[in-house]
Amino acid sequence: MAKIIATINEKGGVGKTATATTLAYLLSKRGYRTALIDFDGQGHSSIILGVINTNKLEVTINTMLRKLVEGEPLPALESYIFKSANGVDLIPSNSQLFTLERNLCNVDFREHILSQYVDTIKDNYDYIIIDCMPQMGTPMINVMMCADSIIIPTQAELLSAQGLAEILKHYQLIKKNSNHSLRIEGILITMDSPNTILSAQVNDMIHRGFADKVPIFKTHIPRSIKVAESVGYHQTICEFRPENPAAIAYEQFTDELLAGTHRKTAERSA
Ligand SMILES: Nc1ncnc2c1ncn2[C@@H]1O[C@H](COP(=O)(O)OP(=O)(O)OP(=O)(O)O)[C@@H](O)[C@H]1O
Ligand SMILES: [Mg+2]
Repeated sequence: MAKIIATINEKGGVGKTATATTLAYLLSKRGYRTALIDFDGQGHSSIILGVINTNKLEVTINTMLRKLVEGEPLPALESYIFKSANGVDLIPSNSQLFTLERNLCNVDFREHILSQYVDTIKDNYDYIIIDCMPQMGTPMINVMMCADSIIIPTQAELLSAQGLAEILKHYQLIKKNSNHSLRIEGILITMDSPNTILSAQVNDMIHRGFADKVPIFKTHIPRSIKVAESVGYHQTICEFRPENPAAIAYEQFTDELLAGTHRKTAERSA
């Protein structure tokens, strides 16, 4: 059964999508059967994984959730999955997903719809990565209800680091009341400019504020314009420029995640 990992941060533009798509690609490259659920109406993960026009998609994650709400049978996985050239199976998304919050408002057990969907595909994969939208609400509660763990990408900026407390509050509420086995995989510092005063300040702030509560990945993802450029080629940075420092950092982050070394460091210091 797949391990479900979501990239979550209510703040926009912090590297959720870059991290989700790159991690999914690297897991697939390392031989794991990997799917990515694009759970954002912006459809950015879908674009990176090769969808040319998300608005032309006939079947998206929203279609699947709507069918479940209406009690309709789901089509076979092979009939709607988008096979990315990089080996990842994509459950794509487009702007239809923006209606999800509204569509779920009168639905019984509305926090469990995504879990119901994920249960139907779980046996086919080793990892299912969920790339999340940048706001809390019923859709995000759905994610936290079905995930095994979450990665919190955080841009190396002071305001970004301050938003972490808010996410932890939601996480603790859901873990306490509903998904008791949910855990935080770690905070991942992204768009870092190493050897700058800002980078040192953010690093210090995050470690002082959170190191005793949650794991923090030792690897930081450096800022590189090539990451933004790779999107235009429908590729992750690790495919586009494997020798780029951000690509190398994503490989190291994946090593850390798979080995669990970030967790062991946190457990020792706790
Ligand atoms: N390491 C990096 N260096 C430079 N640019 C980056 C890096 N990581 C991501 N970006 C760029 O920053 C922008 C925001 O990144 P991304 O889309 O991954 O964030 P997000 O948290 O998913 O945003 P949203 O909340 O809108 O979904 C994108 O243009 C992306 O290409
Ligand atoms: Mg995104």
